[in-house]
Amino acid sequence: MTRDHDARETEDGDVTETGDSDARETEDGDVIDTARADASVARETARLRTDGGTESDSAAGADDVALDPWGSSTVSDYRKLFEEFGIEEFDDVLPEVPNPHYLMRRGVIFGHRDYDPVAEALRNDDPAAVLSGFMPTGDPHIGHKLVFDEIIWHQEQGAEAYGLIADLEAHAARGMTWEEIDEHARDYLLSLLALGFDPEEGELYRQSDNRELQDLAFELGSKANFSEFQGIYGFDGETNVSHMQSVVTQMADILYPQLEEPKPTVIPVGPDQDPHVRFARDLAARMRFFGVTEAFASFELDDAERALVAAVYEEREAYAEEPERPRCEEAGEWLAEADAADLDELGVVDDDDVLDSAVEKLDNAGMEPLRPRVRFLDLNATDDAFEALVETIDGEKRRYDAHVDAFDLDADEAEELAREVELDHGGYGFVPPSSIYHRFMTGLTGGKMSSSIPASHISLLDDPEEGYDKVKAATTGGRDTAEEQRELGGRADECPVYELYAYLLAGDDDEFAKEVYDECVGGERLCGGCKEQAAELMRGFLEEHQEKREEVEDLLEDLDISLESPRRGVAPGDD
Ligand code: TRP
Ligand code: SF4
Repeated sequence: MTRDHDARETEDGDVTETGDSDARETEDGDVIDTARADASVARETARLRTDGGTESDSAAGADDVALDPWGSSTVSDYRKLFEEFGIEEFDDVLPEVPNPHYLMRRGVIFGHRDYDPVAEALRNDDPAAVLSGFMPTGDPHIGHKLVFDEIIWHQEQGAEAYGLIADLEAHAARGMTWEEIDEHARDYLLSLLALGFDPEEGELYRQSDNRELQDLAFELGSKANFSEFQGIYGFDGETNVSHMQSVVTQMADILYPQLEEPKPTVIPVGPDQDPHVRFARDLAARMRFFGVTEAFASFELDDAERALVAAVYEEREAYAEEPERPRCEEAGEWLAEADAADLDELGVVDDDDVLDSAVEKLDNAGMEPLRPRVRFLDLNATDDAFEALVETIDGEKRRYDAHVDAFDLDADEAEELAREVELDHGGYGFVPPSSIYHRFMTGLTGGKMSSSIPASHISLLDDPEEGYDKVKAATTGGRDTAEEQRELGGRADECPVYELYAYLLAGDDDEFAKEVYDECVGGERLCGGCKEQAAELMRGFLEEHQEKREEVEDLLEDLDISLESPRRGVAPGDD
């Protein structure tokens, strides 16, 4: 397997960013990380469990962030993901989450995009879904276990759950043969079931034999073009077409849970998958029949102008001859003459360009009344659907060529109505999908955890004794001598062994994880004993997990999922 990411010259600040070249030398999209990042992982984890105080230290960050689904998953500075990519901090939404999972409580799940609707649905027992996918390129390992656990937790909280085998992607983008794919696919499914996925309630599928999924992928493909693939993924003239097809397939995966009914859906993944999530959110919006916005007159406003005009509308007593019927030009005139103090009072950011354009639009509208309304824009609606929408709107409405304004609906009601009409007329009515992001685990040997470096990770299929040995051989954050350790304390923040406790071995027991941390940094815990304890726990975990895998073999055989692909075909080059 070779990587081809020299193709990734393209920079597109707006959707993705290519990393520097050494960030791309590594294999293994899914689990690796830099030593630096793991220091900040542990620090963050520690922060949540110790004093809850200081934010993670900014000195930890280098200046590159790579979000490349098929390249390296090096994330050297998680803060950049917030600042540059608009990923939101999970901590902000945590209080809204019912019974948060320990990975959430400990900051392992550190970021999200638009998770609030999912949290709300879980709280209210409303429909919600969770879906994630696995490329069967190797053995499932403890990094994948994070995602398995996330799917299962959402299922336990009442979400519809989906797990998929990304076999088309593995074949087209990673050059795996169908034989290899079949073998690994089975292993992923067994581990997911062994960890508690309920296949009666949830759905497991392979990309390659899901016809409905492919039909959806085809439809989504009609809203995507090659320039976007270049911008987002760095595809170029050498990229094989099946790889591109695997991208629209993943877009379809992400929206698949909504085929029966639109609903908030969360995609738990590593941050390297964020470009896919953003693209899927875009495509979901592009498929909609109607866009709903708020407006004040017949003309269109951008978001900044809208905020300003809304504030000016509130001031109508100050300028309108008939305050119950303010005119656009009155508002425009007042705004043009407003001084700094007036503007300050409006509480909107003063930006001359926004101000000028808003004044101009208001002026041009002359005597037209200035009046709040919701606007339905016709994006993809059929004529019938547009007519039906106009019909269905209650109260006062005004119809234009490509939009209709409603005066007696609020924005939520309008959204609901738009979706209803869309669904009645053959549309999908997608809700933009949400995501949550977990930190990558540090390799046991320090540096990156990578499937291609066996000593760096623990496979869920490793012999329990081998798992024990790997932990015993792991690097630690310990001091040079026991004496020094007692005096200065260990560096749990920089210790892959501590991470094993926090991410996996301590399970739901926060007290225990905290105890390990406190004892370590307090100098009461020495690495020898600490590793012995971790190694034994790991051995126990692997024994139990592998027993469960055997127990669910029959369950897997009974499922409606093909374990042997009838497909033929030469694996393309790694692309
Ligand atoms: N691209 C993902 C990976 O590299 C696998 C995947 C395919 C996926 N479809 C998905 C992940 C849908 C989340 C949601 O591992
Ligand atoms: Fe790591 Fe444990 Fe040593 Fe602390 S005592 S540095 S947690 S191995």
